[in-house]
Amino acid sequence: MPERKQFRAIKGTRDILPPDSALWNWFEHSARETFESYNFGEIILPIFEETELFARSIGAETDVVSKEMYTFLDPPRDLNPLPRTLMEGDQIRTALMSDLLPRDILSLRPEGTASGVRAYIEHGMHTRPGNVKLYYIGPMFRRERPQKGRYRQFYQIGAEVLGQSDAPAIDAEVIEMLLTFFRRVSLTSTTLYINSIGDKNCRPQYVELLRDELRKVKDQLGLDSQRRIETNPLRVLDSKLPEEQPIIEKLPRIGDHLCAECREHFAKLKDELNLRGIQYEENWRLVRGLDYYTRTTFEVIAAGLGSQNAVCGGGRYDGLVELLGGPPTKGIGFAIGSDRSILSIQENAPDAVKRHLPPLAVFVAWMGAASYPTAVSVAKKLRGCGVSVELPAEEMKFKKSLGLADKLGARYALIIGEDEVASQTYSLKNLADGKQEKLGESALLEYLEAERRGRG
Ligand code: HAM
Repeated sequence: MPERKQFRAIKGTRDILPPDSALWNWFEHSARETFESYNFGEIILPIFEETELFARSIGAETDVVSKEMYTFLDPPRDLNPLPRTLMEGDQIRTALMSDLLPRDILSLRPEGTASGVRAYIEHGMHTRPGNVKLYYIGPMFRRERPQKGRYRQFYQIGAEVLGQSDAPAIDAEVIEMLLTFFRRVSLTSTTLYINSIGDKNCRPQYVELLRDELRKVKDQLGLDSQRRIETNPLRVLDSKLPEEQPIIEKLPRIGDHLCAECREHFAKLKDELNLRGIQYEENWRLVRGLDYYTRTTFEVIAAGLGSQNAVCGGGRYDGLVELLGGPPTKGIGFAIGSDRSILSIQENAPDAVKRHLPPLAVFVAWMGAASYPTAVSVAKKLRGCGVSVELPAEEMKFKKSLGLADKLGARYALIIGEDEVASQTYSLKNLADGKQEKLGESALLEYLEAERRGRG
């Protein structure tokens, strides 16, 4: 006898069940509609790529690349000191420096920007007219400690603009599109934070200055921050440790060390946001956890989510296309975390949730073998008109039928018995108020279709 084992979803992954899945579909559909109204087109990207693509673009020292990626050798093989299976940190670095072909070291994608840029270069999209405006929807993978709003398989909706211009109007339009989408899905208790982290001309000096200042207070910092002084001092600004906050508040601020071009770019971005009536808060500590950013960075946080409250992160990444071997190109984009956004909508906008979880419209309560063919035929016609119909496969007693219709949340019971078949009429019972009327087939179809359109 095989062992009776109960399988469970892997820690950090989850099933999204109906009716919640309907909410997810509505959320993604609304994104598609909003983004397409801004002339973005969908790109469908692979789930795994060469590890080196992520290491080079996101940065080998970032948490995402050094600790959180699902990395594996393909084909699997024994290579001392590399394990046959998952790798992290130093092992990834060793593998990338080894004689292995880069194409043999793969990772599940932890985000979409690197893949989007890879596709842009691979398909010569820079020859397309105007800016290339792409969006993508799908799962991402990071081996983080799971908690509310943080998963190992999570879902993003991302958008990227790639082209020759770095006009701040593009940054502002991308942010406008994001907030238009959030409004459309009733995600309105949000705050937009913006910052500029400078470019290759001014950031290196600021990073050195920050490093010098941090070294002076090193012994007052936690171990993570101490390590980051050498690896990536900007990330110290992200720290949430209460005891580090007064120290961080006294550190030099990037805004005071931007070069003239970056300062002007940031000032124009704010003008452009004002022009569009977009409210924002400046946050000099918003540095983001991925290395490719230059100048504009932004994040949106939503109410009621606890510590994992960032529902979107984004920014400019001029230079990333070149770093990955493409022509000089500017880029900006964002990614929305669908899991957290939907959680926030469920907690803060119950009316929107209700509107987008359409209840079952019609339960066909048929009785007697003679009425079954009519029930099958009318169910098919109603479904053809877009009405959702539940047709029991087996005959049920009338009372049981109505009880089940009620439990399923049906709005109507369509009663078909021998009388109805004989008179070629149907009894439609409104389960909310108990009212019942007799309708011929075409009147029935018309009525229910109009009702569906009214709700849609
Ligand atoms: P990110 O800030 O790493 O940026 O992720 C964007 C959003 O994905 C976060 O704000 C959050 O809502 C969601 N997210 C991230 N990790 C998790 C997780 N473990 N569980 C649940 N949700 C999560 C990026 O990924 C960049 N590629 C964004 C971008 C596009 N920048 C320019 N273009």
